[in-house]
Amino acid sequence: MQPKKSEPVHNWSFVFPNDANPQGTMFGGKLLAVMDIVAGIAAARHSRTRVAVASIDSITFMAPLHVGDMVEVIACVVWTGKTSIVVKTDVFGEEPCTGTRKHCISTHFIMIAIDENHHPTPVPPLLVETEREKSAYAAAELVKKRALAQRDMIELPLPRS
Ligand SMILES: CC(C)(COP(=O)(O)OP(=O)(O)OC[C@H]1O[C@@H](n2cnc3c(N)ncnc32)[C@H](O)[C@@H]1OP(=O)(O)O)[C@@H](O)C(=O)NCCC(=O)NCCS
Repeated sequence: MQPKKSEPVHNWSFVFPNDANPQGTMFGGKLLAVMDIVAGIAAARHSRTRVAVASIDSITFMAPLHVGDMVEVIACVVWTGKTSIVVKTDVFGEEPCTGTRKHCISTHFIMIAIDENHHPTPVPPLLVETEREKSAYAAAELVKKRALAQRDMIELPLPRS
């Protein structure tokens, strides 16, 4: 397969009242759902297959989004394995009247390309050229290794009483 260059996917939306938690800031679960979709689109546009999320790296909510804020989610393929694709996903809030921007979240989604039988299927290798791409690639490689180590440490569920 020919190496492919990464094409970032940008998604803009407003925080609506029905996106909010009781404190009036955006509900984290809703934001994660948007990030998951945008990351999935970036991965699927790279592999041109269906994709499934295998793992999400740790998430820190650094700044709240308020009702009426604009939200930009940027997803960019930064690493590929044989069947896996790591997508760096960044979230920014922007206050519409002042243009003040805040960095809310950055994390990595690990997506697996799957075929019609839901089996992992090979993806085109990522073309990595610039220094920025090389450094994002190195960071994502660590994320992938960490995710596999964490998977191997998952404890069995407690027995049902
Ligand atoms: C993701 C899934 C398809 C992987 O299938 P699998 O049979 O375990 O896959 P394999 O062991 O053959 O590994 C395939 C790739 O996935 C990677 N992988 C599997 N589990 C992983 C994990 N927890 N974290 C990171 N990478 C993982 C492997 O490293 C491998 O990557 P590579 O081909 O680039 O080397 C399967 O575990 C699954 O369906 N999980 C549920 C997905 C889901 O429901 N997501 C939410 C909705 S989309």
